[in-house]
Amino acid sequence: MAPGVAQLVMSLRYQQLISRLMSRYPNLTRRLIHAGFNLGSCIVQAISLNRKNEESGGVEVMGLRFFNPVGVAAGFDRHGRIGRRFGSLGFGYVEIGTLTPKPEPGHNKGVSILSSFPDAAGLKHSTIMGINIGKNKSTALEQSLDDFLLCLRAAWNKADYVALNMTARENAALLTDSNQELLWHFLTGIKQEQKILSRCSGRYVPIVAKIKFDLNSEKLPRVVKLLKQLHFDGVIATTEDKNQQQSVAELINRLDQFLEGQLVVISVGGILSQKDIQQRQRSGAALVQIHNGLIYEGPEIVKGLRHMARL
Ligand SMILES: Cc1cc2nc3c(=O)[nH]c(=O)nc-3n(C[C@H](O)[C@H](O)[C@H](O)COP(=O)(O)O)c2cc1C
Repeated sequence: MAPGVAQLVMSLRYQQLISRLMSRYPNLTRRLIHAGFNLGSCIVQAISLNRKNEESGGVEVMGLRFFNPVGVAAGFDRHGRIGRRFGSLGFGYVEIGTLTPKPEPGHNKGVSILSSFPDAAGLKHSTIMGINIGKNKSTALEQSLDDFLLCLRAAWNKADYVALNMTARENAALLTDSNQELLWHFLTGIKQEQKILSRCSGRYVPIVAKIKFDLNSEKLPRVVKLLKQLHFDGVIATTEDKNQQQSVAELINRLDQFLEGQLVVISVGGILSQKDIQQRQRSGAALVQIHNGLIYEGPEIVKGLRHMARL
């Protein structure tokens, strides 16, 4: 059998197996795949196969050097057990979390886990690590800022960038029309704290907001204007329909034009191939993230990453 055909057969078998396992045992399958990535990253790091990737090339975004614009989205490595080791597999960055002030049983162990992480400032030539933060379910919406500030302070020295999770149901409520004043109070409070922490630590940590976009709406959500007005660093545009690649590309393009390069666009959702990645980049995404693609495409995505690093 020709090598190309053999590869195709192997990847189809992998996809069939994973689809079957995911339909029956989704949590167990996700855990097993996470364990596979964990083991793979340890082995590759131990034999330093990808050292060249980490030390050269890449893109500069938000003042940070990403040796590859493709990263791992939040929720896959929630507690950072693999963390920066994702770089050894070819990923340019990983976003850990969402972490909340107190643990959320079955979801996350709380932001205190970060105390055992090394400070980001001491790490040279490292894979970038973002920390995605949110509020506890039990915290009232009016108190959201307090939860996020607590997480922001805990994440500051450990993260290369911080992502505000505004996609979870409990946080997304801030984006509704009836909560406009609360949203302004929230965003200005975060910005103010970023200034204070930068001054005290002598280190600037970019802050991006992760927001769900409606592909059926022509208008960009109001929060995007506020993020631009307040000089946030970027928007993680989440769109979850893998069958609407063209609509997502148009949205990314619209968003990028509106932001005029003042904030970066990070695209996540429905990315399953190198073609999808390239389309998002051509539309204006400075960085992309993958979550379910790691589950369903596994080895194929990782193989393509070496090529992405050279783009
Ligand atoms: C099992 C699972 C857990 C997730 N957990 C989080 C999370 O904790 N925080 C977050 O911001 N996004 C979370 N997400 C959303 C992903 O980061 C991503 O935005 C979404 O899955 C779309 O990307 P994809 O199509 O590549 O999977 C989660 C997604 C999945 C499937």
